[in-house]
Amino acid sequence: MTPDLASIANVMGGREVRRVAFDADTIHRRVCEMGEEITAAYPDGDLLVLGLLKGSFIFLGDLVRQIRRPIQVDFLVASSYGNATVSSGEVRLVYDPATRLDGKHILLVEDIIDSGRTLNRLVELLSQRNPRSLAIGALLHKHIAPDLKLEPRFLGFDAPKEFLVGYGLDHAENFRHLPFIASLVE
Ligand code: IMP
Ligand code: MG
Repeated sequence: MTPDLASIANVMGGREVRRVAFDADTIHRRVCEMGEEITAAYPDGDLLVLGLLKGSFIFLGDLVRQIRRPIQVDFLVASSYGNATVSSGEVRLVYDPATRLDGKHILLVEDIIDSGRTLNRLVELLSQRNPRSLAIGALLHKHIAPDLKLEPRFLGFDAPKEFLVGYGLDHAENFRHLPFIASLVE
């Protein structure tokens, strides 16, 4: 169900929304399908689902509950864009998972692939830890990354080339709690 404009205005605290890009039902249906795809893709072995914080927290929480096989869950924290709506370039790891990665299937879960810088750097770092396999699960993909080292094996949606918030995605730490994904008037 697409939320009406008055309830969006309330939850957004007056910030102008261009449009709702993905409503809660649409997201839910796709996340359920992705859970089935992931379950089918890993018939054996240890599977470690690594959520990239903070943007993936809601997606990850919904996704792991749709995976019907044993998994482990841990997190990575990379440096963010701060308050900007465009990537600044540098990617730093500020939290490294405590869990062992070697010999495990690693599924790195990301909210949105934009410039691809974050993913490229993480793929490089995680590959060095001798995982049995390394794959990416992303909710959204803008398809503007010039040289993505690893395309997502599991993808929720192709994203419009707009600045999106909600369902974990933020603008300056705001709007992560929205149950839908909206684009902001810039
Ligand atoms: P990338 O390194 O440019 O691919 O961007 C990675 C991170 O930037 C994502 O995990 C998001 O946290 C953030 N980001 C990129 N695009 C958006 C957007 O449209 N809305 C909110 N956050 C975004
Ligand atoms: Mg962010």
